[in-house]
Amino acid sequence: MIAARPGDLLYSPMQITFRPFTRDDLPEFRAWFLDAELSRRLSFPSDQWLAYVTAGDAARCWMALAAGQAVAEVQVNQENSERGYLDLAVRPDLRGRGVGTAVLSAFQSGPGKAYQVLEGRITPDNVASIACCRRCGFTILPELDAEGFIQAIYRRSRDC
Ligand SMILES: CC(C)(COP(=O)(O)OP(=O)(O)OC[C@H]1O[C@@H](n2cnc3c(N)ncnc32)[C@H](O)[C@@H]1OP(=O)(O)O)[C@@H](O)C(=O)NCCC(=O)NCCS
Repeated sequence: MIAARPGDLLYSPMQITFRPFTRDDLPEFRAWFLDAELSRRLSFPSDQWLAYVTAGDAARCWMALAAGQAVAEVQVNQENSERGYLDLAVRPDLRGRGVGTAVLSAFQSGPGKAYQVLEGRITPDNVASIACCRRCGFTILPELDAEGFIQAIYRRSRDC
């Protein structure tokens, strides 16, 4: 058997499926926040957060699965009927092996189709997140926004 090496791509977008995040996912998702990189990038998933992402259309959240295992979490906060703000967390032990790119690509052709525009607001030092968005066809705006974030924007063409 050949051992997986850093840099190997684990999954193709076609192997990724999504299901709505539920309370049953909280223990596992919270355990991911023992990882320092994830916990400095995203807010800890509190009970209030769970209520927010499961209550209605203002925000939605999915677990991304591959081979029956949770491999990433995707959240979209909907600003209006067109635009959603995207957050993505890859299970920490799977980072840097193409999972983020596969999940984001699968999301764009899956649940993300509900949004005309998907936008990521990324801290400038988050090289992996910027590269992941770029790889998935997001436009990276050259100027920081008013709060110092890089804006990565994916605009769906009207006919797809
Ligand atoms: C950001 C994140 C979602 C990316 O997912 P990932 O599975 O680690 O990324 P991938 O392996 O698909 O790599 C995507 C790109 O980033 C690059 N990359 C990955 N890790 C990197 C690192 N540590 N440093 C520099 N580049 C990196 C890859 O080379 C690839 O670039 P390429 O397509 O030009 O070759 C993931 O690292 C993560 O969950 N980070 C913590 C939470 C977070 O920051 N979320 C985003 C908030 S805006």
